[in-house]
Amino acid sequence: MPGLLEGKVALVSGAARGQGASHARRLATEGATVIVSDIRDHLGQSVAEDIRSGGHQATYLHLDVRSTEDWATAVETAEAEFGALNILINNAGICEMSAVAECSDDEWQRVIDTNQTGVFKGIRAAVPAMQRAGGGSIVNTASIFGLKGTHGYGAYVASKYAVVGITKSAALTYCYANIRVNAVAPGSVDTPMLAEEVKVFEQNPDFDWDAHVRKYPIPRLARPEEVSEAVLFLASDLSSYTTGAVIPVDGGTLA
Ligand SMILES: NC(=O)c1ccc[n+]([C@@H]2O[C@H](COP(=O)([O-])OP(=O)(O)OC[C@H]3O[C@@H](n4cnc5c(N)ncnc54)[C@H](O)[C@@H]3O)[C@@H](O)[C@H]2O)c1
Repeated sequence: MPGLLEGKVALVSGAARGQGASHARRLATEGATVIVSDIRDHLGQSVAEDIRSGGHQATYLHLDVRSTEDWATAVETAEAEFGALNILINNAGICEMSAVAECSDDEWQRVIDTNQTGVFKGIRAAVPAMQRAGGGSIVNTASIFGLKGTHGYGAYVASKYAVVGITKSAALTYCYANIRVNAVAPGSVDTPMLAEEVKVFEQNPDFDWDAHVRKYPIPRLARPEEVSEAVLFLASDLSSYTTGAVIPVDGGTLA
C-alpha cells in the first residue's frame, strides 16, 4: 500500500534530535523524501543516515532557522534536488526559563529569534515554493504554553503565543493557494530539551518532578512519536479540511 506522503518532499527544522528527529522518521516511513535540517550537523547527518538505512529517503542540510539565507538555500535545495517543497515542519525551538522581570535582553532575543522569527522566516520562504507546487502543508510547533501561561518562561510563552498567531494568519491568507497551515501544541515531551529543564527543577528540593507529572490527566510524559502522529495527520491529506488549527498533544492538560 502506498504511504500517505508518497512523492512528497518534506523539510523538518530542528530534526537532529527530540521531536524533530521523530517527525522526520515518521514522515519518511510514509514515503516522503525528508530534508532533515538543524544546526547540530553531526547529529542531523546521523538521523538522515539512519532513515536511509531503513530503506527510506532522507538527506541532511544545515539550516539555522534564524538565517534568511539558510532558508533560501533550503527551499532551493528542495526544488533543485527533489523537484518541489510540499511540506514544512517548523519544529526547531529553544527553551529558556526566566520570568519576565529576570529575562535579559539577550535571552529574550535568543528565544524570539529562534522560536518566533524562525517560524516566520520558514513560512515566508516556503510559501512561494508551495505555490509553485500547487499547494502544501505547513505544521508549526507551538506548545501548551502558546495557549496558556505558566510561571517563568516569559520569552518562551510569548514566542509560542506568536506561533499560534502566525499559524492562524497564514492559514487564512494562503487558503486560496491550497496551502494549509496548522500547529501542534505539545505538553511535556520526553526529549533532551525537557531533560535540561528537569535538571533545573531538581535544584529545588521542594519540587517533586515525578509527582508533578503524575498529576497530568494522562499521568506520564508524551513520547516524541506520539506528537509525530499529530504532525503526520496535519502534514498529510488526512487533514485536507483542517487549516488554522492548533492541536494539543498534551495528555489532557489543557482540558
Ligand atoms: N519537549 C517538550 O516538552 C516540548 C513541549 C512543547 C513544545 N516543545 C517544542 O517542540 C519543539 C522541539 O523540541 P524538543 O523537545 O524536541 O527539543 P530538543 O532541544 O530536544 O530539539 C530541538 C532541536 O532544535 C534545534 N535547534 C535549536 N535552535 C535551532 C536553530 N536556530 N536552527 C535550527 N535548529 C535549531 C536543536 O539543535 C535541536 O536539535 C520546540 O519548538 C519546542 O519548543 C517541546
